[in-house]
This record gives sequence, structure tokens and C-alpha cells, in this order.
Amino acid sequence: KSAVILISGRGSNMQSLVEAGTGLQVRAVISNRPEAKGLEWAAAKGIPTLAIDHKAHASRESFDAALGEAIAAHEPDWILLAGFMRILTPEFIQRFAQRIVNIHPSLLPAFPGLHTHRRAIEEGVKVHGATVHFVTEALDHGPIIIQAAVPVLPSDTEATLAARVLEQEHRIYPQAARWLAEGKVQFSSAGVVQVPGSG
Ligand code: GRF
Repeated sequence: KSAVILISGRGSNMQSLVEAGTGLQVRAVISNRPEAKGLEWAAAKGIPTLAIDHKAHASRESFDAALGEAIAAHEPDWILLAGFMRILTPEFIQRFAQRIVNIHPSLLPAFPGLHTHRRAIEEGVKVHGATVHFVTEALDHGPIIIQAAVPVLPSDTEATLAARVLEQEHRIYPQAARWLAEGKVQFSSAGVVQVPGSG
């Protein structure tokens, strides 16, 4: 099985997916921001990289069409969003239906959207975390594949909490990718289907 990974910046989740050896062949890393640090890292690893600058596109539809063409050229089984900070159009999501996976830095359905760590601290939650889920047209609301929880400590700042969550992201995204590679999780509109014995 193979994957194309989409990033927008640092790319530490993409790095964890490449380095963990998940059984998914990473065919390309694509960024919507040409200056994304993760592109350099992937290129140094010999992975094909591409930047498709969303600012060079007049509309979301036009950007997503170009992105879709670039992805399709690699014929991946899976599209893994790893810190990819663009909202995808329904057309794009339908084109790759049930094959797009995202990591989100909160325990969904709590804190969809941006600034999750700051909001978790502001709300005074005691448990926070990260979620790997299938992408559907409802932003940050698709069937959940795996989650990890971390404590929120009284001394936490946005940065310390983000670091604690990121450590878990780097564990659960490769785990989810292994399950995808082994065919152990499947999309279902009723939620993720776990194949028996996938433990
Ligand atoms: C991660 O926390 C991811 O969950 C969030 O943005 C961050 C990206 O980090 N959406 P990186 O680019 O994977 O290092």
C-alpha cells in the first residue's frame, strides 16, 4: 500500500510517518506552502516533493483541482494530511472518498478547528490529546481511527501542552498508518470498522 502525505510547514508528523516504517510506501510529499521546512527534509530522504502554492490560485476549487491532479499522478492508496492547514473542497473529498486521513491536535469532537491547545487551557479541561480520523466533508468530524490522551497540568502553557500532545501524535499517526497498510481499519459511515484481531 502507498500514500501521499500533505503538509504545510514543519512536517514533524510526516517525518514520524516516514521514519516509523509503517509499511506504507510514501510516494510523495506535497505542500501548499513552498517554504515548508518539511519539503527539504523529505527531499533529503529521496522522497519526491512538490509545492503547490495556494496563493497562486484564484479559488479554493482551482487549488484543489491542481492538488488532486498532482496526487492522482502518484496513484496512492491513501492521502495522509499531516499538519496540512487548508480546508479541502467537497469536490476534492469526494474524488478521494474514504481514502483521506487527518491528524488533529485535540480529542475530537472537542476543539475542532484552530488553536486547540490554547482553547483547551482556557476551558480548563484536565485531559487533552490528539486524534487520527478519516476526512469527511464535515471539518474535523470524520470517523475516528485512534486517539491519545494527555493530562493538562496547572503549569501548562500553550507550548508545553502542544509539545506533550505532539509526542503522542508521533506515536499514533504511525500506528494508524500501520493499520491502513495492513488493511486493519476501514471507513464506514457508521464509524471506523476494525477488522477482528487488529489489536
Ligand atoms: C500538528 O500538531 C498537527 O496536528 C497540527 O499542526 C501541527 C503540525 O505539526 N494540525 P507538523 O507540521 O506535523 O510538525
